[in-house]
Amino acid sequence: MKGIILAGGSGTRLHPLTLAVSKQLLPVYDTPMVYHPLSVLMLAGIRDVLLISTPHDLPGFQRLLGDGTRYGMNITYAEQAEPNGLAEAFVIGADHVGDDTSALVLGDNLFHGSNFSDLLHECIGGIGPDADGCVLFGYPVRDPENYGVGEADEHGRLISLEEKPAQPRSNRAITGLYFYDDRVCEIAKDLKPSDRGELEITDVNRVYLEQGRARLVDLGRGFAWLDTGTHDALLGAGQYMQVLEHRQGIRVACLEEVALRMGYIDADACYALGAQLAKSAYGKYVMDVATSLGAVPNGGR
Ligand code: DAU
Repeated sequence: MKGIILAGGSGTRLHPLTLAVSKQLLPVYDTPMVYHPLSVLMLAGIRDVLLISTPHDLPGFQRLLGDGTRYGMNITYAEQAEPNGLAEAFVIGADHVGDDTSALVLGDNLFHGSNFSDLLHECIGGIGPDADGCVLFGYPVRDPENYGVGEADEHGRLISLEEKPAQPRSNRAITGLYFYDDRVCEIAKDLKPSDRGELEITDVNRVYLEQGRARLVDLGRGFAWLDTGTHDALLGAGQYMQVLEHRQGIRVACLEEVALRMGYIDADACYALGAQLAKSAYGKYVMDVATSLGAVPNGGR
């Protein structure tokens, strides 16, 4: 399965923060926002990732993440010249995806919950020619009118889908994480722009809905799906991460830790990555995790 992170747009709701810096590079407590969606793909077992952003912002992501080797990943980059819609990710990313299945995650979506990796693997396992064509994740929110909104039958099959409806039929927002079979690029290629001039991911998902092959998986009360769209929401997301770190001593979306726990790098390599950041509490955390999982600092000397 191939991964795509869509991290473009102009972040106008966060101005002036985003006048000089991409929204998806802004800090969420101690990590750049894009660490979150990247860690989700890593937890799903996806190691080949295309990051799409604006021509202006792409160099910042490249400086931050490089080619991904240090996390046992392969990260490549592509430009989206204009914010022409989420589904354009599958036009720009068609060569990257090829004949494979794929996952799209929005660069500003933050997820946290226990056993997330198991859930992701289970969902990916359900994708196939005579099975799910796409898997979406629903999350109960107080303001569904601001999101894509879905309804499922008792088997979890998606039965309705609307983008920012004035009268939502349910309170289940569709999150910015999408799994697809090998047909998604073809579907995206044939899309027509919507009334607002965008290639809508909701229109892609509707094709699968009409085939009866779209699944809606609920992320229930035990999960956090956090918004970063406003100054308050961004600060709140940072405070959420801070509380977890102070209370439990864990860090969310620590790429070095995820890479180690997923077996993409070994403990000594993880320790070395932490040592490069040793002046920060984050770096010390990475070194501690690596040591607790078997790293031998300085080769035991
Ligand atoms: O976050 C989940 C929601 O994301 C879903 O519930 C909606 O169904 C989906 O349409 C989308 O809604 P948004 O209103 O959040 O979409 P927005 O246009 O704000 O774009 C989401 C992110 O993707 C944002 O960080 C900017 C980036 N983006 C957006 C567009 C349109 C791009 O990188 N390129 C684009 O062309």
